[in-house]
Amino acid sequence: MSASDTSRIHDLAIEVLKENDRGTYTVPTKGLYPFQWNWDSCFTAIGQAHFDEDRAWTEMETLFEHQWPDGMVPHIVFHVFDDGYFPGPDIWNTDRPTPTSGITQPPVAGFALRRLFERSKDRIAAERRARDLLPKIEKWLAWFYANRDPRGEGLVAILHPWEAGRDNSIDWDEAFERVPTEGIAPYTRRDTQHADPAHRPTKAQYDRYLWLVEHFRGLGWDNTRLHDASPFQVVDPGFNAILIRGCADLATVADALGETELATRNRDRATKGLAALENLWSETHGQYLCLDRTTGKLIESASIGGLAAVFAPIPAERAAAIAQVIARQAENLRYIVASHDPADPRFEPKRYWRGPVWLVVNYLIFDGLRAAGETDLANRVLQSSLELIERSGFAEYYDPQTGEPCGGGRFTWTAAMVLEFLTISGRT
Ligand code: DGY
Repeated sequence: MSASDTSRIHDLAIEVLKENDRGTYTVPTKGLYPFQWNWDSCFTAIGQAHFDEDRAWTEMETLFEHQWPDGMVPHIVFHVFDDGYFPGPDIWNTDRPTPTSGITQPPVAGFALRRLFERSKDRIAAERRARDLLPKIEKWLAWFYANRDPRGEGLVAILHPWEAGRDNSIDWDEAFERVPTEGIAPYTRRDTQHADPAHRPTKAQYDRYLWLVEHFRGLGWDNTRLHDASPFQVVDPGFNAILIRGCADLATVADALGETELATRNRDRATKGLAALENLWSETHGQYLCLDRTTGKLIESASIGGLAAVFAPIPAERAAAIAQVIARQAENLRYIVASHDPADPRFEPKRYWRGPVWLVVNYLIFDGLRAAGETDLANRVLQSSLELIERSGFAEYYDPQTGEPCGGGRFTWTAAMVLEFLTISGRT
């Protein structure tokens, strides 16, 4: 990539981030996602920090203004009315001052806090703002272990595919069979009016997404009851890796701020989580797998969830095995990393999380591989990500075989990750 290409992509990334900025929060993309999404926002803040540190802190602060009293940080904050999205606040009915959804998302906040804190040029502001966010983020991380790991196993379960962020992953197919569809209120999807229905989840999946929402709503969104009452409880290695890394990164920031007790608590959480993660390792697949907590069995589905686990400080031999899996997949793909093993007959290259490449997950994998010393493959992931941007712009996700852009366009977190990739590779 020439210097002028790099500079054009860099400027375009900032343009996308600014275009989706709503002042104190950023929408993932216009139309399809018109509110604030939890993990999107944390990745967004990392991107914003490259050109506007103050705005980056605000992005995270806005998210945490909507933390629930029990500690949960919801997956959507409905700041403004917009009927272009379904399911809106009336379906969630969570009884919050500003309406929110009732489920959560991968806790990228611990990692984002550390990135913002360590890179900030305005050290005084960074210390003040990090000190304020620190206990809020800890409260959320502790919430996970209290509510989603009720038997203290060291790993937390998601209760809805939207919590993993990988909405229609093949990982959930079998467990989803146990979620009924009868009795849900009639509804009209909006996502398929903004994006190609062939790139989105199916109606059968939406019916189950909504059944779970109605079921949890019927329990008054009482987080002390939801886990055991949910027919869907899946332990996702990628999700847990983000949580483990979040605890470890929070501990690092806490140490720097002299909050040693908070640091110790979170380091202990990370250590326990890492040990438990070993139970999800599959020698056959050379990667981690999801666990269906309702059956106690690993799910035979080689998805990116098990590869993204490299984002946590897993043992070096595990990271090396994951690198081999990705390298093997790359032999038959133009772009990496596919969200599902292309050798699996269930792989669909254009359908959301059943095959396409996502730049945020590429970033997590890149970061983990690099930390594990798998530099060559990490650089291939980075290179492939930038080639996708050059070919197809700032899409929501991409077909790994053709590079075709899929889903929503001019996507915030994609742009944020481009700024990261350009900076880390020394191109800006
Ligand atoms: C959606 O609506 O597609 C989201 O992924 C749910 O958060």
